[in-house]
Amino acid sequence: MEKREEIREHYAEVASAVAQEAAAPAEGACCSCCGGDESRLYPEDVKNGLPVAALKASRGCGNPLGEVQLQPGMTVLDLGSGGGIDCLIAAAEVGPEGCVYGLDMTDEMLALANDNKRVAGADNVEFVKGFIEDIPLPDGLADVITSNCVINLSEDKPRVLREAYRVLKSGGRFVVADMITLKPEFEAEAGIEVARLLGCRAGVLLEASYEAMMREAGFADVSIRTFDVSSAEHMRERAVRKGYADTLAAYSDEQLEGAFASVFVEGVKQA
Ligand SMILES: C[S@@+](CC[C@H](N)C(=O)[O-])C[C@H]1O[C@@H](n2cnc3c(N)ncnc32)[C@H](O)[C@@H]1O
Repeated sequence: MEKREEIREHYAEVASAVAQEAAAPAEGACCSCCGGDESRLYPEDVKNGLPVAALKASRGCGNPLGEVQLQPGMTVLDLGSGGGIDCLIAAAEVGPEGCVYGLDMTDEMLALANDNKRVAGADNVEFVKGFIEDIPLPDGLADVITSNCVINLSEDKPRVLREAYRVLKSGGRFVVADMITLKPEFEAEAGIEVARLLGCRAGVLLEASYEAMMREAGFADVSIRTFDVSSAEHMRERAVRKGYADTLAAYSDEQLEGAFASVFVEGVKQA
């Protein structure tokens, strides 16, 4: 999986840039190399009290925890936990009797997440190294699985969903934010050049393909809700900012308008 290595290197750079900025804030300008802080996706009261480096490392496309009511004592697993923002939010909600696992493949992200855990004093969080395609945790562990803009990065998305299903308890919920395409010409390998402008380096699926994949993995009560549709203007502006304006030259505004979207994907492992 050579794409996985490219993705790991990218997120190692993101984590190192955020950690460096946290260590020397006066030097300013974080992450100009690698995208920006996406913590604007969270309400202010949720962000209050979180370590600054957890906010700056935020690279999600939604707030999946806003879609689920966690209860004290629950066990939560976050796939591709990055700097740990969603794990720390979940940790406060499940309380000391609960437990949160954050799974990530990138050492630099895991180190940053552990620093953030220490700063937040979140003793009920454990960051685990591993791949979302091969989750190193036992069957039936989690009441809730979350993930934030990570499953699109996998070259084997069906396997990720099968693994998530395995690790959920019966009756457990899968509640993730992710990216899809709304146009068939941008699905999977065919649209990868354009999708990567949005950070989706392994290509994205159509809603119908995602839904079918959820059902094939075993999930019931599957729903997919689109909440942030990209515009042609945003795509072109992003391409220029990242130095990839040529990539979009072959596409009309009509093709690019509404081509990609953020979604909340939900499903249940039937009891
Ligand atoms: C877009 S960032 C999202 C991080 C975090 N969920 C957030 O909202 O800030 C993707 C994260 O997933 C991790 N990741 C990507 N592909 C992975 C894989 N196949 N297995 C495990 N982790 C992966 C990366 O190391 C990175 O930390």
